[in-house]
Amino acid sequence: MTRPTTPPVRTVLPPSALPGLDLADPATHARHDLSEIWRTLRAEDPVHRHRPAGGGPAFWVVTRYADAAEVYRAPDRFTSERGNVLASLLQGGDSASGVMAAVTDGPRHRELRRVLLKAFSPRVLAAVVDKVERAAHDLVAAVAGRPECDFAEDVAGHLPLKAICDLLDVPGQDRAFLLRLTGTALGSDGPDQSPFDVWQARNDILAYFGELAKSRQKHPGTDAVSTLATATIEGRPLTMDEIVANCYSLILGGDETSRLSMTGAVLAFTEHPAQWQALKNGEVSVDTAVDEVLRWTTPALHFGRTATADTRLNGVPVAAGDIVTVWNASANRDEAVFTDPDRFDLGRTPNKHLSFGHGPHYCVGAYLGRAEIAGLLKALRERVDRIELTGRPRPVYSSMLSGFGSLPVRLVA
Ligand code: HEM
Repeated sequence: MTRPTTPPVRTVLPPSALPGLDLADPATHARHDLSEIWRTLRAEDPVHRHRPAGGGPAFWVVTRYADAAEVYRAPDRFTSERGNVLASLLQGGDSASGVMAAVTDGPRHRELRRVLLKAFSPRVLAAVVDKVERAAHDLVAAVAGRPECDFAEDVAGHLPLKAICDLLDVPGQDRAFLLRLTGTALGSDGPDQSPFDVWQARNDILAYFGELAKSRQKHPGTDAVSTLATATIEGRPLTMDEIVANCYSLILGGDETSRLSMTGAVLAFTEHPAQWQALKNGEVSVDTAVDEVLRWTTPALHFGRTATADTRLNGVPVAAGDIVTVWNASANRDEAVFTDPDRFDLGRTPNKHLSFGHGPHYCVGAYLGRAEIAGLLKALRERVDRIELTGRPRPVYSSMLSGFGSLPVRLVA
């Protein structure tokens, strides 16, 4: 294993930069390592008032684990219905509110979530996980031994969408089309993406699932689209808007997050060769390694809520209507919860990271996400001897997602 020779991709932003910081700006996250900022906020100003940004109002920045968990746990005090990420919260709402589980609260959320969880039945999941493991082996085998590959594109770029397409039983001939659209719809490729392209891609995905759902209503199978298309809540079928939005949420929630954690794992192995060796030699279990990869990479940087009434968070008064953002990236390095939090330790236990959130909106795809990462780690362990960084990783451009959209490496077989 050789250590990376390229200069750091992100520069560490010192705490003195706090007054000018704009956490809503994707460039902040793409260009800077915010670990010093998070450390200072956790210690000195854990519920921080962020100046107005992104054309919207001021918002709260929650950085300690305990406060983050409190917000996640209390949808009656901190609702997702006006959006659950800064981009939509600052624009005043989310058009899928009350329709898509992630931005719905109360009894309707519980029912939509029940339907979504039915789509992850053990039988369906077992088949999906089995295919993911085989795909991980094939993809790693195809690039192992080559002088260079882009791990983000050549390996991680294929696995999660394949798993979700298997879950939804998307026909093989449509998959490349969907992969292209989701890349654009999430808008994290770079600053040059036009808002129109993003909007168009989202609409195309929704239209695609509308057609697929109609055909599954006529000929249902055991897949997730059929589950949503034939489900009833209090005796009534879901509306087409609900079916389509929740199909889309599986791609939205599960594609890029998993990709980023896998790519981040490989980058971490190049930076921490002893940990790679420990995994390779079987000194640490794949299960603990998966959770440390999730904590270390924290693909979902933040989630957000809106205060439903005047309340207090860690003693700080928060007014009704205020936007409250919870920074998983900081909570997962909280020294009050994690021993030596800046150490990448694949054997870490306990490891109750917040990478999948917490409480009523806890990620419905957590089992699948873990299984994808486990499949990849097993494939790497079996097929690869050393991992060398061969170029400069390219960070994604997002205030919501964290990680690398390109990772040039050599996987030495
Ligand atoms: C919710 C992260 C994989 C689908 C969430 C939440 C987080 C998260 C933090 C909570 C959002 C909130 O509280 O507002 C991740 C990460 C993943 C991953 C880091 C991979 C490493 C997946 C997969 C799927 C998925 C594979 C589906 C195939 C969803 C859905 C929700 C959700 C539908 C909304 C649940 C609800 O609101 O009740 N995810 N996720 N995620 N995730 Fe994931």
